[in-house]
Amino acid sequence: MAGRDGDRPVPAVRKLELQLVTACNLRCTYCANDPDVRDAPPRFMPLEMVERCLDRLRPEIVSLTGGEVALAGDRVLSALELARRYGARPVISSNLTVFRPADLDRLVEVGGVTGFFSSCNDLDDAMTLAVRGGRPAERRRLLENLAHIARRGWPLSVETILLRDTVGRLVELHRLLADLGVRQHRIEFLTPVGHASWGLMPDFEEVADALERLYAQRARDCHLELTCCPITPCSPLAERLFPRDDPGVSAYHCTDGKDLCYVTAGGDMVPCYAFTCRPAPGNVGREDPRRIWEESPVFLRVRREAPPACEGCRIATSRPGVTCTNGCWAMLLMGTGGLTQLCWEFAVAARESALSGAGPGRLPVRRLEEVAGTGAHP
Ligand SMILES: C[S@@+](CC[C@H](N)C(=O)[O-])C[C@H]1O[C@@H](n2cnc3c(N)ncnc32)[C@H](O)[C@@H]1O
Ligand code: SF4
Ligand code: SF4
Repeated sequence: MAGRDGDRPVPAVRKLELQLVTACNLRCTYCANDPDVRDAPPRFMPLEMVERCLDRLRPEIVSLTGGEVALAGDRVLSALELARRYGARPVISSNLTVFRPADLDRLVEVGGVTGFFSSCNDLDDAMTLAVRGGRPAERRRLLENLAHIARRGWPLSVETILLRDTVGRLVELHRLLADLGVRQHRIEFLTPVGHASWGLMPDFEEVADALERLYAQRARDCHLELTCCPITPCSPLAERLFPRDDPGVSAYHCTDGKDLCYVTAGGDMVPCYAFTCRPAPGNVGREDPRRIWEESPVFLRVRREAPPACEGCRIATSRPGVTCTNGCWAMLLMGTGGLTQLCWEFAVAARESALSGAGPGRLPVRRLEEVAGTGAHP
């Protein structure tokens, strides 16, 4: 089904993320979702929109997400039925504080769910309250569900986000998850959009110290993965961030926009859930999803462009275990309006500038024309 971008084929959509509902029971300090939706009435993605996206994009994997996807009620099983009809492998991205274990059984046994993605920054009740605005019962349910999924042996990946509040407790959080039976733990860098600000992000040296401790003390049966990392391997800091000679630790290669896209409950289609511009690159309620994927200038740009300094770079390919993603394009595009700067240089400078009060507290939401580029091949 691949189209063409000039003389290059447009890749097929491997993974489609659908926001079934905007509402969430938690109020995470770091949430990248649009702050305007938190206190607004919930918005649900119509099932016709789910079907249209599946039909036109034919993804290999479809991820049902939110907000908190459990708050989409019966729509979840209906969307799973559609996923099966269109041959997509369904996965669930949930905070796992609302579903009961029996609901998870139904999702897998009736709905055909093949894996779960969740997050945990919840070492104790005080942390759940401070970081996620959650109650003790919600933390208990999360831990119960993680243990349940692990016991059943269903694929499960759990993310912990690098915040001032979590960075000093990474080893404890990792041990908690490993003891529950989690075998894939992702450590995720914050993207300062939505509710999140640079002020929540720890100093990068402090992050490196914490990661070094974590790598040394990690549970041998739980794989660690570094994700959304703006510190690319050409940064002097990278030496300490990316572990060497440990097959149990890896760096995630982000393919958002390249073979993955995200659609909000209102139909806005973006190349990464954290990327925001106004208006969105396209809206599947008004336009053909496949056409947005193949022809929208923002998608074309994300697939075509990389910082000029990356041309011919061999750092990533010559260092085993170190994957270069060219940094976080979403951060660069929102922060600078382009994709020319090295991401780590931008991230370090922008954080410092925000903390000193000279620069914006979070990545600015830009107008579409500012981030669409010229549409010309570089
Ligand atoms: C958007 S949430 C959706 C699923 C569910 N609501 C949850 O939080 O697990 C998916 C993932 O994005 C992460 N996330 C949310 N805001 C983020 C931000 N500002 N920067 C980086 N990751 C973020 C969460 O930690 C979670 O692992
Ligand atoms: S990060 Fe996830 S769980 Fe937290 S408020 Fe946002 S959508 Fe809800
Ligand atoms: S590809 Fe670019 S960002 Fe990645 S290590 Fe090389 S120069 Fe740095």
